Amino acid sequence: MLWEWSLLPLTAEWGREGLQIGGCSVPDLVRAYGTPLYLYDAVTLRTQVQTLEELLREHYPGEGLITYAAKAYFSPALARRLVALGLGVDVVSLGEFRLALRAGFPPTHIHLHGNNKTLEEIALALEMGIQAIVVDSLDELEWIETIAQERGQVARIWLRITPGIATHTHPHIQTAHAQSKFGLYVETGDAALAIHKARHSPWLDLRGLHTHLGSQIHDTEPYQRAIEALFALAEQTDYLPEEFSPGGGWGVRYQPEDPPDNPLPWVRAISESVTAACKRRHWPLPRLVIEPGRWLVARAGVAIYQVGAQKRAADGRHIIAVDGGMADNPRVALYGARYVALPLGYESYEGDLLPSRVVGRFCESGDVLIEEIDLPPLQRGDLLVIPVAGAYHLSMASNYNLAPRPAALWLEDGRAELLQPREDPLASLWWGDEP
Ligand code: LLP
Repeated sequence: MLWEWSLLPLTAEWGREGLQIGGCSVPDLVRAYGTPLYLYDAVTLRTQVQTLEELLREHYPGEGLITYAAKAYFSPALARRLVALGLGVDVVSLGEFRLALRAGFPPTHIHLHGNNKTLEEIALALEMGIQAIVVDSLDELEWIETIAQERGQVARIWLRITPGIATHTHPHIQTAHAQSKFGLYVETGDAALAIHKARHSPWLDLRGLHTHLGSQIHDTEPYQRAIEALFALAEQTDYLPEEFSPGGGWGVRYQPEDPPDNPLPWVRAISESVTAACKRRHWPLPRLVIEPGRWLVARAGVAIYQVGAQKRAADGRHIIAVDGGMADNPRVALYGARYVALPLGYESYEGDLLPSRVVGRFCESGDVLIEEIDLPPLQRGDLLVIPVAGAYHLSMASNYNLAPRPAALWLEDGRAELLQPREDPLASLWWGDEP
């Protein structure tokens, strides 16, 4: 099967000039902006947001809030659109934090994460009165308390708890196992001690508990166990959280054989687990905050590359080099992520397929985008569409080999607006006193 519509953005269709997304002709956009090019479909992103909102309303009887994990992809033009949708945001750096504020996120909808926050980040959080600083360690708890005291302000905080739960995902994107660098460990007693200390400090206002299990998870069971563990901890320490967040991490479908792209099991499981945990203890329901990144933006985005040099390797595989690669999508090298590529113009191709490998143009052997895929014989200049490219590509992109980070466009009702221009990699270099 060559063409897989179900991985593409919801508005993908055939127009007169071939593939259209958001009512825009993809070949036209490539002519105007070049490749590699990232395209984001407005309808898909809004539909994902609405779907989660409706599910949360339907399954959680208390108050719910969706906060977008900015690390999945953030730019001023995207942030402004997310503000208009009423989302909150989770930020992990001064850069994300300042962008969120400048784009108009209300401070009460911002929470600050990170396992090694800076003084500047904490000071800005206190100054703006954000929803919560999510405290990651006992060391940080004491430090935030000192800063708050020095400034004469009370710090509103959550505690990030590490319940010691491993998930079935790549080891690099697991975060709540006992060896994780993140959070306050339940097992060592740090979590209980942090609750105790936070509650007894006049400079700390402990609003809630948080955990994040990892990313690209398709199974509800670890969420249920984690929620149970956090409520058991709250009960042991005689603490009743007003806010509660089981993080983000729900997975998406990158390939046809991946599990379905359905968030219902996730939202239902966390809603029911929190409700049941509270009911059993006769506690009021906390405000439930979920923190999806990938699930909101991944499918809205596609990457478009142009085919360049080709060769046949000794193992018989056809090697197709495209004009991007690990500098704009490091996920294959980092997590062994698997993608499909859809060759534009070959939608009704019925001839022989060649066992192929799609590689990037960067000077590293690990710069492979797709290890094994059957593709028709392609020509130089043909376009390859990589679906599900909206999360953790551009936000993790680099200037390796002084590559410019690609342009990204927002497509809506036949109009394309820039989310980010193609970068000039020389513009940010220091040239010294050039004669
Ligand atoms: N909340 C916290 C505290 C997080 O650390 C993350 C992601 C999220 C929410 C959002 O997770 P999501 O819903 O997007 O899975 N670069 C990796 C993923 C790293 C995720 C880091 N934290 C990848 O490309 O797979």
